[in-house]
Amino acid sequence: MRATLHALTEELRRLKTAGVTSVSVSPESMEQLRTLVRARAAAMPAGEPERQPQSSARKGGDRTGPSWEPKVVAPPAPQTPVATLPLPPTVKLPEGDKQMQWDARQTTVLRDPVCLENISANKKVMIGVGNLDATIFFCGEAPGAEEETQGEPFVGPAGQLLTKMIGAMGLKRSEVYIGNIMNWRPKMPTIDGREQIGNRPPTAEELSYCLPYLRAQLEVVKPDVIVALGATAARGLLGADSFKTLGEIRGKWHAFGDHPVMVTYHPSYILQTQSNRSKRVIWEDLLQVMIRTGLPISDKQQGFFKAR
Ligand code: URA
Repeated sequence: MRATLHALTEELRRLKTAGVTSVSVSPESMEQLRTLVRARAAAMPAGEPERQPQSSARKGGDRTGPSWEPKVVAPPAPQTPVATLPLPPTVKLPEGDKQMQWDARQTTVLRDPVCLENISANKKVMIGVGNLDATIFFCGEAPGAEEETQGEPFVGPAGQLLTKMIGAMGLKRSEVYIGNIMNWRPKMPTIDGREQIGNRPPTAEELSYCLPYLRAQLEVVKPDVIVALGATAARGLLGADSFKTLGEIRGKWHAFGDHPVMVTYHPSYILQTQSNRSKRVIWEDLLQVMIRTGLPISDKQQGFFKAR
């Protein structure tokens, strides 16, 4: 357990050194972490402090480092392989109808040696799903634990919330298209071959490797709008340096080639904040998407999540 915490601490340090300022952790992973920390506290002899307080963190200095670093230096943590990826693939769609084109793209991505190399053992390469005639294309970041097991985007807790959001728009999941920028879950170190805990944002290289596959899906579906869910999707579509904070660009129309892009928060933001305000903010962005795509909006829908 100590080694697990140490590995995680080391990985957070490595990410921080690489310039990463935040990592998203699913509620399940958060619960697993809490369980680890609670078990560690319970295992400690009475009187031994659970945490080594970091004085700088207390003074408001470096707040990004975890405050529960183990006192005793554990064996070196496994390193995340920082693979240098080959140039992004050229994805050519065959002549034919949408289904034939989509099938060809699916076959290519499922056989892509780089994608196959980057998935963990017994996990699946991610492909988008949905209606090939959809007017709305939801674009997320990367598969999480559930998604890499099933090979389908947004099937975990964030996905269930996304399905509800789609329902609130008066649509079914089968009427839209859902994809991710990434075709694999970015790997993090694990201990003794155990399952990966938590997620890390993809590197710029990983994003640009997978982008041609996203482009190919857009070429097939030809949606009226793309909804970019969260900062990583926005970064992949609009460029790494196009914004500092998501708040700057959300709720506004942008473009990815000929496709209008509405940027909004990722559904996991609602899962983290659980606030009516965050629901309303995302809902306002989705109302704009509904207006642009000509979906009817009832008074009830107009008023969703407004402060009472
Ligand atoms: N988060 C994403 O961005 N995509 C998924 O498929 C699942 C969670």
